[in-house]
Amino acid sequence: MAAEQLIVPDFDTYPVTHALEEAWVIDGGVKLRWDDGLESRLPVLWLREFSPDISTFHAITREQMIKLTEIPADLIASEATIAQDGFLSVLWEPESLSSRYHPGWLRAHIPDTPDAIFALPERQLWRDADHKKATWFDGNAVREGRHGVFKEWVEAIHIHGVGLLRGLPAEPAIIPEIPDLIGPVRTTNFGSIYEVINRPDANSNAFTAIALAAHTDLATREYVPGLQFLFCLVNDVVGGNSILADGFSIAEQLKQESAEFYEVLSTVAIPFGTKDKNSDYRYTAPVLEHDCEGKLSALRYTYWLRSPMSGSFDTITTFYAAFRRLQEIANDPANQIDFRLNPGEMMAFDNRRILHGRAAFDPASGKRLLRGCYGEREDLESCLRILNRKERKRAATSRHTASSE
Ligand SMILES: [Fe+2]
Repeated sequence: MAAEQLIVPDFDTYPVTHALEEAWVIDGGVKLRWDDGLESRLPVLWLREFSPDISTFHAITREQMIKLTEIPADLIASEATIAQDGFLSVLWEPESLSSRYHPGWLRAHIPDTPDAIFALPERQLWRDADHKKATWFDGNAVREGRHGVFKEWVEAIHIHGVGLLRGLPAEPAIIPEIPDLIGPVRTTNFGSIYEVINRPDANSNAFTAIALAAHTDLATREYVPGLQFLFCLVNDVVGGNSILADGFSIAEQLKQESAEFYEVLSTVAIPFGTKDKNSDYRYTAPVLEHDCEGKLSALRYTYWLRSPMSGSFDTITTFYAAFRRLQEIANDPANQIDFRLNPGEMMAFDNRRILHGRAAFDPASGKRLLRGCYGEREDLESCLRILNRKERKRAATSRHTASSE
């Protein structure tokens, strides 16, 4: 069956970094040899499921249409050859389906050693005074979508956890205009946009004039917002300097000091809860969260939104010792940057990594008004991948190489 073929089963562009030299049918799959000597073995269902034909993938959405159960249980690759144009051709039986695989797509996905073309840059911890990477960017260049500056800002938030903007007009519309360039605003019980101002009916410590030690927001949520944007509209009070610290670096410092404390904060689930007249969010989880590879992925660190924990006397005692030490490290000025956020300036940061806070201010001395909203880390990552994808497409177009579109 010669089903109509897509070039690749998605919307990306794949540079051909290596050519295929040989293909063989093997028991249970297909084996390939590349021009750099790399050999890869591809299991039958892995390869068949991604056959880029329009009976397998929807021609418009490029999402899979088939279920694994629609593929014959006795499926085999009966032929595997390298076509003149460098594509891998496979004949599947008993379907009698011919599939063609783009060598760039294959190399980007081969199971054991894929080319890391979708990989985002590694996060970098703030390690010392010279590496507190809260970099200022030209806010208007970001606002106008000047590609180079916009991408640098987005990358800074990903790599260093923070990207600061200056020079914007001190207008309310900047929030959500700038966050929308990355992705949708995350609405919470504080609304889609909130104003950080001292007010008599405060339903958060943030809406008072007291000092806020370094913290993350909304640890009470099952899925804690991954980004926060705080934009200064007015700031003429005495006091109120902003604080930022790298929670991942602080956690690493704790780990170096005490593997036991790190383990306690990574495994002992503690209860977080809102104190609000109209909402009652509660979530129980460790302070330090890790991804499926065991890497630290988030801190739950809204220290004033904790509820009394339950557990054994010893566990609670050990937890408090560990958490106290984490707070000491987090509040060490050597681990923080401290600056005044002025009108027209914005802090954009990873709310599951970067701790933020402020000094107390005198509300009688003037006005301090920030306008803020939340976003998601995954939207930042998607934004960055799309920027990278566009660069791949531009490079492919200039080289006249194969593109998915
Ligand atoms: Fe906060």
